[in-house]
Amino acid sequence: MATQTTQAPEKIFKNAEDFLPLNGTDYVELYVSNALQAAHYYKTAFGFKSLAYRGLETGEKDYASYVLQQDKIRLVLTSPLRKGTDIGRHIDEKGDGIKVVALWVEDADKAFHETVKRGAEPFLEPEIIKDEDGEIVRSGIYTYGETVHLFIERKNYKGVFLPGFKKWESTYNPKPVGFKFIDHMVGNVGWNEMNKWVKFYAETMGFTQLVSFDDNDISTEYTALMSKVMSNGNGRIKFPINEPAEGARKSQVEEFLDFYNGAGVQHLAIATDNIIETVTTLRERGVEFLRVPATYYEELLDRVGEIDEDLTPLKELGILVDRDDEGYLLQIFTKPLEPRPTMFFEIIQRKGAKSFGKGNFKALFEAIEREQEARGTL
Ligand code: FE2
Repeated sequence: MATQTTQAPEKIFKNAEDFLPLNGTDYVELYVSNALQAAHYYKTAFGFKSLAYRGLETGEKDYASYVLQQDKIRLVLTSPLRKGTDIGRHIDEKGDGIKVVALWVEDADKAFHETVKRGAEPFLEPEIIKDEDGEIVRSGIYTYGETVHLFIERKNYKGVFLPGFKKWESTYNPKPVGFKFIDHMVGNVGWNEMNKWVKFYAETMGFTQLVSFDDNDISTEYTALMSKVMSNGNGRIKFPINEPAEGARKSQVEEFLDFYNGAGVQHLAIATDNIIETVTTLRERGVEFLRVPATYYEELLDRVGEIDEDLTPLKELGILVDRDDEGYLLQIFTKPLEPRPTMFFEIIQRKGAKSFGKGNFKALFEAIEREQEARGTL
């Protein structure tokens, strides 16, 4: 069933102070083994543009970071320059993966103290960093696994990204693919840990739970998971949290945890205004997506009712559709973006729906299981 209960978080906070006001996602930083080549891949395949750089040429001796941008999304790709670094250890244990989910705040000092006061484990005490373009204040706390949230206060900064970075001029900038902003970011956490992290986002960060479904809703013959969605006060930040559930064989969340050696970000869902155009371009550029069987489209309109799009391109591209009380959404999932079956992207276009495509989970999980079967990890 596609019906879900959604609550507007604004209503909940109408009379209560949001102790952690968030303007949005500031950037997402991945630790990768070859940031230069990864940057080329994200530019070529996904249409990001070169924005900023930090490395040997800017006086940074330990690591290099390449910053890419497309509309409101900024990706930072970081590699160590020497052996024996914590970044190198992270890559050894997890492969390429997301270390930092940075959140844009008005007051990074307050964000740190309000969350640490409520039990967050400190990662970075508030600090001011500056260059000739001004200063930023940043601080950070741990979330699940080794993932961290940095709070970035940039109201007194007019530089290209952060102090210490220089503008990255590149003559190679493939056309954007229509990515607009990060719709949601999903974390996979360990067995029986979902509620611990739901509580963390609720009590430590002031988030609200939006939707809940249990393993009866989203299990297949073999695998299952449980998921809850946490949203901040203004609804701009949404973090679904998955944990594995008992199934006959290994679930995709468990497979992630094995290859990532712990909890971490499973997927970034990226919003587009025209999913058919976006996915057509991505496929031309070699991006591979999970495919559902053609039979999915036979019953689609019975399940979701009338939609604006023609069925033919949706079927050709493998785009999925789901409906809730408020409208519908179109979505598709890439295959993992690195050799390990860990992080991937979702592309999503919302037409009123505020949910996350629960009606597609069964078809999707069966598609994932076919991939797992091929990897020998089911
Ligand atoms: Fe998603």
